[in-house]
Amino acid sequence: MSLEKNDITEKLNSIDNLPTLPTIASQLLDLLGDNNSSMMSIAKIISADPSLTSKVLRIANSAYYGMRKKIDTIKLSLVILGIEEVTNIILSISLFKTFQSDTSSSSLDLEKFWEHSLATAHISRLLCRVLRIRMHGEEFTAGLIHDIGKIIFEQYFFEDYCEINDKILKDKLINYKVEEDFLGVNHMDIGAWLAEKWKLPSNLVESIRFHHFPKLAEESPILSAIVSLADKFVKQNEIGQSINFEEIDLENAEAWDIIKEYSPRYINLDIEKTITDVNKEIEKIPSFLSIIK
Ligand SMILES: [Fe+2]
Ligand SMILES: [Fe+2]
Repeated sequence: MSLEKNDITEKLNSIDNLPTLPTIASQLLDLLGDNNSSMMSIAKIISADPSLTSKVLRIANSAYYGMRKKIDTIKLSLVILGIEEVTNIILSISLFKTFQSDTSSSSLDLEKFWEHSLATAHISRLLCRVLRIRMHGEEFTAGLIHDIGKIIFEQYFFEDYCEINDKILKDKLINYKVEEDFLGVNHMDIGAWLAEKWKLPSNLVESIRFHHFPKLAEESPILSAIVSLADKFVKQNEIGQSINFEEIDLENAEAWDIIKEYSPRYINLDIEKTITDVNKEIEKIPSFLSIIK
């Protein structure tokens, strides 16, 4: 059965227990956007949550960062890793916790879903570094939540979503096209809708909406392009799970046309080295994931 777009919007608007962005995550995102926020105020918010604090410190001291000096306070983690990086760690922990699967019957393997999302976040960050594109951590957040719409399908349109995923797998189809056929909307539109409800910054909303078509982005095409490319790198390396049979043509991805305009490094970019760097980053992700779980 296929639903009309109006039906789905009506159904979504009637849901009163929509997943909420963890409070600490929205507080930190607000603070990040405020240039006057101090390290002390950020440390205070994090330290108020002992279980979060201990996870952050475990990650900060893990092989992922390979620090020689022991980081034993949140304040020190902020000094050594930086505010953006600690915020990234916290976003990963809190989103993973909020959207954990509590049932075995699921159309989406949530653990694999988060593995895919987390890898996209890490690769987005790495691409910005390699390409010398200056962002403020939003590339990591955008990577982490780019497919969040799938969670809404999973939680509120469960039966349709099982059918959708069966169909994609059986006939090797492109996910957003099948979603549109069945539900009248795709995971990008639904994800952007949720991000708006969460009052996330508009560039993040846009990067969710256009992560498959970065050229359509108007406000910050570079953010959509980075996430789009990272998503392809991750799919090509088969990390986590993204039920989709869209062709991955990394070399000719439309994201490069946008990156060309924004990256001072683009002309001399050593693609092979970039791929080696991406692969190295990818190898480290399981150690990060094992702690945030
Ligand atoms: Fe997607
Ligand atoms: Fe994805």
